[in-house]
Amino acid sequence: NWTMSDFIDMQIAQIRETVGDKKVLLGLSGGVDSSVVGVLLHRAIGDQLVSIFVDHGLLRKGEVEDVMTSLGGKFGLNIIQVDARERFMTKLEGVSDPEKKRKIIGNEFIQVFDEEATKLNGIDFLAQGTLYTDIIESGTSTATTIKSHHNVGGLPDDMQFSLIEPLKTLFKDEVRELGEKLGMPHPLVWRQPFPGPGLGIRVLGAVTEDKLKIVRDSDFILREEFALAGLDKEVWQYFTVLPGIRSVGVMGDGRTYDYTVGIRAVNSIDGMTADFSRLPWDVLQKVSVRIVNEVDHVNRIVYDITSKPPATVEWE
Ligand code: XMP
Repeated sequence: NWTMSDFIDMQIAQIRETVGDKKVLLGLSGGVDSSVVGVLLHRAIGDQLVSIFVDHGLLRKGEVEDVMTSLGGKFGLNIIQVDARERFMTKLEGVSDPEKKRKIIGNEFIQVFDEEATKLNGIDFLAQGTLYTDIIESGTSTATTIKSHHNVGGLPDDMQFSLIEPLKTLFKDEVRELGEKLGMPHPLVWRQPFPGPGLGIRVLGAVTEDKLKIVRDSDFILREEFALAGLDKEVWQYFTVLPGIRSVGVMGDGRTYDYTVGIRAVNSIDGMTADFSRLPWDVLQKVSVRIVNEVDHVNRIVYDITSKPPATVEWE
C-alpha cells in the first residue's frame, strides 16, 4: 500500500545516496514543481542544495517576497536571489511581437541562470521539477529531457551536471499532495498556473514599467477579491491583461482618457481547451470598482467571455 510518506522516505534515502557529500543546484521559479523539489531536497541534503531565483520583473505582486520568506525563511533553503529586472526591461524595450517577447524572456532567463551557476563552484547535480506528464509529452527519456523552458532554468553549456528529478514519476495532483505532506503552505501548493514569460505577455505589445504596474496592481486586486469570494478554489486560472486601448471616461468632474483592463477567468483541465468562468456579478462589480479606484490610469474594465477555442487563455 503506497503512501506519500513512503514516497518521501524513499526519495530522501535515494537523494542522499546519489548526492553523497556533493552539491545540487536548483532553479526556483516560484511555481509548484520547483518549490516542492526545493523543499524535498532541502529535507534530504540541507545546505548542499543551492537554489537560484531569478527576479525578471515580470512576476506578480508579492511573489518574490513570498518565495523568499516562505522557501528561504520558513523552510530555510539557501536561495541566491538575482535581481535581473533591468536586464529584462532593456532587452524587451520596444518589442511588441508576442513570440519575440517569449523568446527574449526565455533566452535572457537561461543566460542569467547560467551566469549565476558559473559563479558557483563544485556543483555536480542539477535538480529539476520534471513531472511524469513532461516526460510523456516530450517522448524522450528523462536523461535528455532538459526543459529549455525558463521556468526550470537551462543547463550551462560548459558545465556538466547530472540530473536529479525526484518528481518524474508523479502527476500534478500527486506533486500537490507531496507538497502538503511536506508542510508547504496551501497557496503555494495550490498556486494557479502562471506562464514562464509572466506579466510580459499580459501587457499586450511593447512592455513598459508603467504598463507592468497596471497589470501587476490590477491582478493583485483580482486575486484578493477571488480569495475573499472563495473563487480561488473554483477557478482554474484568473488574471488581468492590459490591451493598451484607451477610451473616454468621466471621473469626479473631469473627463478621462485612460486604459482599459481586461479580466480573464477560465476553467480547464490541462489548458488545451478552456471555458470562460460564469463569475458572480457582484464579484465582477467589486473588482471593477476597486481596480478603477485604486489603479492609476484605468477607467474601464471588460470581462473576456470567450472560451478556448476559438480564443486562447492568454491574450498573447
Ligand atoms: P494559451 O494562452 O496557450 O494558454 O491558451 C494555455 C496555458 O498555458 C499557459 N501559457 C504559457 N505557459 N509559457 C508558459 O510556461 C508560455 O509561453 C505560455 N503561454 C501560455 C497559460 O497561462 C495557460 O495556463
